[in-house]
Amino acid sequence: MKVYKAQVLTYCLMRNFAGSDILSTKDLTREEIEFILSRAEEFLPVARKQKTLNLMEGVVLAALFYEPSTRTRLSFETAMLRLGGKVLNVIGLDNSSVKKGETLYDTGKMVDGYADVIAMRHPAVGSVKELADGAGIPVINGGDGTGEHPTQALLDALTMKLERGGIDGLKIALVGDLKNGRTVHSLAFLLSRFKVQLILVSPKQLGVPEEVKEFLHFSGIGFEETESLEDALKVADVVYMTRIQKERFADPAEYERLKDVFVLDRALMEKTGSKATVMHPLPRVGEINNDMDDLANAAYFRQAQNGIALRMALLALVLGR
Ligand code: NCD
Repeated sequence: MKVYKAQVLTYCLMRNFAGSDILSTKDLTREEIEFILSRAEEFLPVARKQKTLNLMEGVVLAALFYEPSTRTRLSFETAMLRLGGKVLNVIGLDNSSVKKGETLYDTGKMVDGYADVIAMRHPAVGSVKELADGAGIPVINGGDGTGEHPTQALLDALTMKLERGGIDGLKIALVGDLKNGRTVHSLAFLLSRFKVQLILVSPKQLGVPEEVKEFLHFSGIGFEETESLEDALKVADVVYMTRIQKERFADPAEYERLKDVFVLDRALMEKTGSKATVMHPLPRVGEINNDMDDLANAAYFRQAQNGIALRMALLALVLGR
């Protein structure tokens, strides 16, 4: 009976990823996150071009990107190509039948017959789930509007692990447009599985959605909200900068008012004595000055690089390889 209970527990904590969709970090247990990160670390030499691995021969990824992307689409594509697979691309709503009125559910059913796995980005919250409901093959959320961006959060966690040696015990400041920034939502859900303290730094009107706060409360994660980047820098181990999400603003004047609200530069690091690891999902549009780039703890370009290994690991897991 004891063995049986232990098996049930293991099953609950760690699913078999083969055939799974990756839609939200809310769905991932701590054990699953740690497992994905350790698989990603194994792929680092391949991602860094130090080793070749032909794991995906004959496998096709459909990259359906209905909203602008550089890093996410290219790193999914690079991950698949470097593992010996192939990639089909749809770039932009204008170039797809979604424009003609096809439902995402139908697109999912159709792409199922063309590819083995789908990575998708779309401007509407919940859109990736809608397509996944139609597709029988695994679907990975590459960003659904202001909703979530789970693969970014996983590569952020991988970066924290690589840069800081682990995630437990960190004091992490999430800075910028916490309302519209989907990377922040997914990262907050993910971090709530660890023993961290969060400092949420944003203008009042761009604070994290209630749903995220409730999740943090429910998970027992301590967090404080502030409008002062300077105060956060004095205590944070990791500073996760984000851009103000221009495309989500109904009023352009409001964006103009808020866009430069937080700018991190070397002078501010020196003034606050901050030794924090500086991260950013990128693209940056002024919120991290270029004079930061030579600092040893400026991790944002390494972070983008880590996305390849992380996506290799996820593709391998959902394809059961
Ligand atoms: C992020 C996104 O698309 O949400 N970019 C990315 O995927 N690295 C962040 C952003 O656009 O601000």
